[in-house]
Amino acid sequence: MIDVLKQEIDQIREAAQADLSQADTSDACEELRIKYLGRNGLVTPLMQKMKEVPNEQKAEAGKLLNGLKQFVESEIEQAGEKLKRGEQDVRLKQEAVDVTLPGRPVPLGRLHPITQTLLELYDIFAEMGFQVYQTREVETDEMNFQMLNLPEDHPARDMHDTFYTKDKGVVLRTHTSPGQIHLMKERCPDPIRAVLPGKCYRFEQTDASHEWMFYQLEGIAIGDNITLADLKGTLNAFIHRTFGKERKVQFRCSYFPFTEPSMEVAMSDKDGGWLEILGSGMMHPIVLRNGGYDPEKVSGFAFGMGVERIAMLKYGIDDIRQFYSNDLRFLSQF
Ligand code: DAH
Repeated sequence: MIDVLKQEIDQIREAAQADLSQADTSDACEELRIKYLGRNGLVTPLMQKMKEVPNEQKAEAGKLLNGLKQFVESEIEQAGEKLKRGEQDVRLKQEAVDVTLPGRPVPLGRLHPITQTLLELYDIFAEMGFQVYQTREVETDEMNFQMLNLPEDHPARDMHDTFYTKDKGVVLRTHTSPGQIHLMKERCPDPIRAVLPGKCYRFEQTDASHEWMFYQLEGIAIGDNITLADLKGTLNAFIHRTFGKERKVQFRCSYFPFTEPSMEVAMSDKDGGWLEILGSGMMHPIVLRNGGYDPEKVSGFAFGMGVERIAMLKYGIDDIRQFYSNDLRFLSQF
C-alpha cells in the first residue's frame, strides 16, 4: 500500500515541478496552488488514501504526504513571490515619475484688455480728483435723450441707432451721458467730479470700428467756477498721462446737444496726422437745470470717450471686434 502512495506522491511532485517551470506570472502560480492544494486539488485525495494505509505504516506515510504538501506549498510560494517582485519592478518602472522634469505651466486667466484700460483710466482721473460712478445700462428715453437736451424729433438722435425694448420708452443706453443726470440728481447741490464707465449699445452694423456693444467713459465736473480752461487742462493731462507727453492735443469746435460750447479732441499720431479721441464741452444750462443745479450759480464740463478706441490706440489694435470674439490668442497678449 505504501509503495503505491509513494509512487503517486512522486508523480505529483514531478507534475508540480513541471507545471511550476511553465508558470511565468504570479497569477499562474496562484492557479497552481489551487490546482494542487485547493479543496479539490490533486493533493487532497491522497489524504483520503491515508485511511487505507495499515496502522504500522501510517507514520511513514504521513511523513511522506506532509513532505509533499510542504514541498509543493513552499515551491509555489517562492516562485510566486519571485514573479511578483519582478512584476512590481516592471510596474514601478512604468509608473516612475521623473521629479527633475520641469512642471507643466498652469494656464492663468487675466483681466480683459478693456478692464485693464479702464483701471488705468480710473487711476489717471483719480489723481485729478475724479471718483468712479456706475449707473444703469437700461434707461428711459427720457434719461438717455430728453434730459440731455435731445427732444423727440432732434436730428442728433439719428446718430444713436437705438435698441428699443418691448416696454414703451425703455431703451438700452446709447451712451454713458444719462449717468450725468442720475449723478446730478443724487448729489445736487454739492460739487461733482466723477467718471462714469460702462457698456453702451447701438443697433449698428459691425465692422472694424463699430460694435453693437462697447464701453464708454464719461467725465463730469460741476462747481462754482469751472471754466473751459479747466476742461482743456484736464483733457491735456489725461492724454499726456495715457499716451505720452510728446502728443500734441487739438481742440476742435463741434456740436453736442448737451454741451455748449462743444469740442472734439484729437491728438497727434506718429506720422503727423490727428486721431480723434473724444467729445467734450461745457455743460449746457438746460442739462444742469435738469440735474437740479442753477446754471446762474454753477458751471460744469463733461466729456465722453470710447474705451475700445482708447485701447486700440494704446495697443495698436486695428479691429474692435477682437475684444469680444473671445479668442485666447488675442486676449492672452495683454
Ligand atoms: N455722449 C456722446 C456720444 O456718445 C459723447 C460725449 C460727447 C459725451 C460730449 C459728453 C460730451 O459728455 O460732453 O457720442
